[in-house]
Amino acid sequence: DLLPVLLSGGSGTRLWPLSRESYPKQFLPLHGELTMLQETWRRVAPLATRAPLVVANEAHRFVAAEQLHQVGAVPQAILLEPAGRNTAPAIAVAALEAGAGGEDPVLLVLPSDHVVRDPEAFRRAVLEALPAAEAGRLVTFGIVPTGPETGYGYIRATAGEGVRAVEQFVEKPDLATAEGYVASGAYYWNSGMFLFRASRYLAELERFNPQMLAAVRKAWAGARRDADFVRLDAAAFAEVPSDSIDYAVMEKTDHASLVPLDAGWSDVGSWTALREVSERDADGNAHHGDVIAIDCRNTFAYGERLIALVGLDDVVVVETADAVLVGRGDRMQEVKEVVARIRAED
Ligand code: GDD
Ligand code: MG
Repeated sequence: DLLPVLLSGGSGTRLWPLSRESYPKQFLPLHGELTMLQETWRRVAPLATRAPLVVANEAHRFVAAEQLHQVGAVPQAILLEPAGRNTAPAIAVAALEAGAGGEDPVLLVLPSDHVVRDPEAFRRAVLEALPAAEAGRLVTFGIVPTGPETGYGYIRATAGEGVRAVEQFVEKPDLATAEGYVASGAYYWNSGMFLFRASRYLAELERFNPQMLAAVRKAWAGARRDADFVRLDAAAFAEVPSDSIDYAVMEKTDHASLVPLDAGWSDVGSWTALREVSERDADGNAHHGDVIAIDCRNTFAYGERLIALVGLDDVVVVETADAVLVGRGDRMQEVKEVVARIRAED
């Protein structure tokens, strides 16, 4: 049994001004016609034998429900967090809900804000990983690194083909460490997608962070149910410590496996990351919308109105109804500082 869990609670601040707290990137059509949440469902739908579970912030319940409805997804439940507590609790809520009827399905945990250019290759990797997950492994999907990114988890697996045991999992190492890992050729990036039985995840969380599991259990047991919305108890959820699955479980477990994934994956963490997965012209420009570019290279433009670019190299321009971003491609990580400044001034 394969049950998709769509994690949809992030805020995507580096994709400002398009991605907003009220409307984060997973709900936007950043790559293609469908929104990233809808694309995520489309990608996994052919494999799903059980209706998906969605974990989202309470504030986004209607947009999440509506967008899923539009692509024919009928969730088993939309689990609503009163506030984000990162991925370890979000996945725990899904595992409790999935196991509620005494069943123990395999959960395919998917961030709902990734681009996968080759969905067939993605599905093949999931099917390759499935027997290991059924046998009790926590399976990660490893990406061959293209540089010493410090925003990712790094995984060293035993040598060989196909599904391997994980020897080491290091979440977000510092730059020098990441450089060493990439140079060694022995490490994969963690894609942030996971495959495991609900019971196995809960058992590992119980082992490494029993307090977190107890607090999540309380919030879930006290949830108010209205149609397919499951509203976690706010007072109980406020007591849940915040941590990611990567730190809370994956760095510590002895039961992790890895399957390599070569499917044109990107987590689209920044405007330049989106540029890399977009269609580009012969000069490396990627444009979404009505754009005229004269003598430009490696520009990225996204907007509703006509955008004209003249004589630029490696520049990003994003325009919306109430804000415009213009910046150098190699500094797009700093967009989150713009958002921090706006919040501070509010
Ligand atoms: N429901 C819910 N609640 N979802 C959440 C929450 C939360 O509190 N926090 C994050 N998410 C969702 C995000 O929307 C995203 O889809 C996914 O969970 C991962 O969270 P990120 O915050 O984007 O994680 P990250 O990018 O820093 O790191 C993870 O992904 C990398 C690959 O993109 C880790 O798994 C890394 O090891 C990995 O390399
Ligand atoms: Mg991410």
